[in-house]
Amino acid sequence: MSNVRLHPADLVLPLFVKEGVDQPVALTSMPGVVQHTRSSLLKAAVEAVEAGVGGLILFGVPAAKDARGSAADDPAGIVQLALADLVAEVGGDIVLMTDLCLDEYTDHGHCGLLTDAGEVDNDATLARYASIAVAQARAGAEVVAPSGMMDGQVGAIRAALDAEGFTDLPVLAYSAKYASAFYGPFREAAECAPQFGDRTGYQQDPARSVAEALREVALDLAEGADAVMVKPALAYLDVLRAVADTVDVPVAAYQVSGEYAMVEAAAAAGWIDRDRAIAETLTAIHRAGADIILTYWAVEVARGLAAPR
Ligand code: PBG
Repeated sequence: MSNVRLHPADLVLPLFVKEGVDQPVALTSMPGVVQHTRSSLLKAAVEAVEAGVGGLILFGVPAAKDARGSAADDPAGIVQLALADLVAEVGGDIVLMTDLCLDEYTDHGHCGLLTDAGEVDNDATLARYASIAVAQARAGAEVVAPSGMMDGQVGAIRAALDAEGFTDLPVLAYSAKYASAFYGPFREAAECAPQFGDRTGYQQDPARSVAEALREVALDLAEGADAVMVKPALAYLDVLRAVADTVDVPVAAYQVSGEYAMVEAAAAAGWIDRDRAIAETLTAIHRAGADIILTYWAVEVARGLAAPR
């Protein structure tokens, strides 16, 4: 008998909300996923609630970008407005999480502020992240998930939240985050392809040892992370298992855009059994130790799990 069972409440649905559109925008590289309008976002959130999905994580696609990502912490920025809508529509029914980063908001597409030399300025970026965390918390975020991989980001965010009275608001740290080819389709979804260079300066090299990932995780926990994430999922199940065996906080895994696109594309070509592949990958991620799984299939899978066996 199988003894690794997913539960709908373990799943988190990533959602994109785009400013200034009146129709959802389909994503070529992620069939079935869209950039939502503020109103279609609410419908998607209600569907997730009805399916029993435990949480959603929101990504904003602003209409205008600049070098410092000003829209990210603007109280009238798209994520803050969408969060307020979500609180009114589904508040209390599903955990409202936000991705906390700058790449969706900067015109250069990097996750942080740049120096004059065009390099990411780690410490200047921390002040931006602190401000974004507070803006998201004020708008109704119940968990913030910093994904930019700047050194010290969890500590800076924790301190800023505490100073503003959000002492109980958890930080889910993207702790072991690799410089991965599997983020490809996300760049279309969040309109955040770096305009030059890449993210290898601040994301981890896939060829580094698991011990290095454990060090990143330990640093984030020491800075006050309440839960940690491994990303991507499928190519990093060894890391996931090691993290799950080491920490005593919830462990999340992100089944990223490229993992989704890979299965959808092969299934569309008739080369793979889509439903079995989805179930198998998610079961493997859960088996490897993920308590929480972020997946673009969250609603569909939750519905299937709810059905009688
Ligand atoms: C950074 C972020 C990324 C993803 C989630 N948060 C892009 C990156 O790390 O380069 C990727 C998610 C996916 O591919 O589905 N804001």
